[in-house]
Amino acid sequence: MSDTSTIYKISIIAFTLFCSASGSACPVLECWFVQEKPGHGGGFSVPMSQEKSLMFIRTEAYSEESISEVHPPADISPSRIYYVTDPAGTFCSAPLNPPKGSVNKPKCEINPFVPHASMVSWASALTDSAQSPVYLQADWFSVATQGLDEQLTLSNIMRAPSASKEPKVFLKVILSVSSKTPVVRSRLGEPVLLDCGFWIDPSSPVHGSGFSIEWRYQFRGEGRLVLAYDGKSDRFAETSETGADIDITGLYETGNASLILEESQVRHSGTYICTVYLPHLLAQVAIDLEIVEPPSLSIYPSPLPLLVPGQVLVVQCEASGFAPHTLDLSWEFKSVDGTSRSLGQGSVTGHRQASDGTFSQSSRLELDSGKLRLGRGGDVTCIAKHDGGTRQASATLNVIGVSAPSIEDSMAMVAVALVLYGMIKFLSWTFSSSDSSDTDLKDKKEK
Ligand SMILES: *[C@@H]1O[C@H](CO)[C@@H](O)[C@H](O)[C@H]1NC(C)=O
Repeated sequence: MSDTSTIYKISIIAFTLFCSASGSACPVLECWFVQEKPGHGGGFSVPMSQEKSLMFIRTEAYSEESISEVHPPADISPSRIYYVTDPAGTFCSAPLNPPKGSVNKPKCEINPFVPHASMVSWASALTDSAQSPVYLQADWFSVATQGLDEQLTLSNIMRAPSASKEPKVFLKVILSVSSKTPVVRSRLGEPVLLDCGFWIDPSSPVHGSGFSIEWRYQFRGEGRLVLAYDGKSDRFAETSETGADIDITGLYETGNASLILEESQVRHSGTYICTVYLPHLLAQVAIDLEIVEPPSLSIYPSPLPLLVPGQVLVVQCEASGFAPHTLDLSWEFKSVDGTSRSLGQGSVTGHRQASDGTFSQSSRLELDSGKLRLGRGGDVTCIAKHDGGTRQASATLNVIGVSAPSIEDSMAMVAVALVLYGMIKFLSWTFSSSDSSDTDLKDKKEK
């Protein structure tokens, strides 16, 4: 009994080890090394240079043995080959590690990074604690990478030990900020979670000297502060935003800086930037939020009146409460014998925007039983195609007088109309001649 349970335990442990080992396989990341071309002091458009580079990533420090296992390709400059130690395995997740030979590759860019005192108006200075200048006087790099299938966006700050005078460049991840939700779509009125997490190397002197978190919103060049937490004074900055929150316990315990929007509204659509500030370092990731709400449809008049052959019935389809504003409205007719056909788009109005930011639009269709061959009637359907889904509304149309009027019928109708017209004319003439003062009064009133 105890033997089997021991075997059972061992196999579970072995399985877990196997899983964690394979789950945390660290990638060899192809990146572009981008920096300002040397010798251009300022100016509006600083020319940039772009070089191929490669990052070999491990969770442990590099040893003689592990270095010998790395075989960098000859076409990349040795100064652009990076031997990265990533203790938390921030790079080591599936979205950054596609299967060998796959066409899609993560996007990656490395830039030189210059540590500087973080200056934000809403936070007390993090930098008054004396920082070891020797620690900061090293080569620093920032790397930004986007994983496959919009599953991860990551921004890391890495440091090269200043002592290393070798031709090989060794780096260590010091600060990492990432999001597992780089693109978020939400229905209107639902709570939204914008994921953002960070990690600070516990063995680094910057660890424990405080951090601040900032969430900014950006849309079409406009920006505003959504939420800012000043770790030094343990305070939130004053912002005009309501219904946005982060979990302070999670922030300190697991580096979870995710933003929670209580109730999504159309005005929340845009880009959110999560920034983590340390005394001399910062890293940030951007998250796109799109609020997508399909329209509600209704057909007017409701119910549809009986259609008399020869008459034209105007029907209207009103689509409302949708966002974003792109909508495709069309009409369909399904006759009583079951055949369907398109009645086109009708005449579509422009968009109107409600105070909650949602849009409405309508389409007007003229139903002429003769021209449109509507027969005895059927179902008239309005179809709205939208990013949030396709919606339909139907109304039943009844045409009376099944067959089209014959020529004799039409002539009879004209005759009847003429007789009626004559009678009315005659009667009005009789009245006006019998009482002319009445007519005068009426004339005055009309004027
Ligand atoms: C981060 O915090 C939010 C809100 O408390 C929670 O919903 C989310 O699951 C957390 N994320 C992680 C990775 O723990």
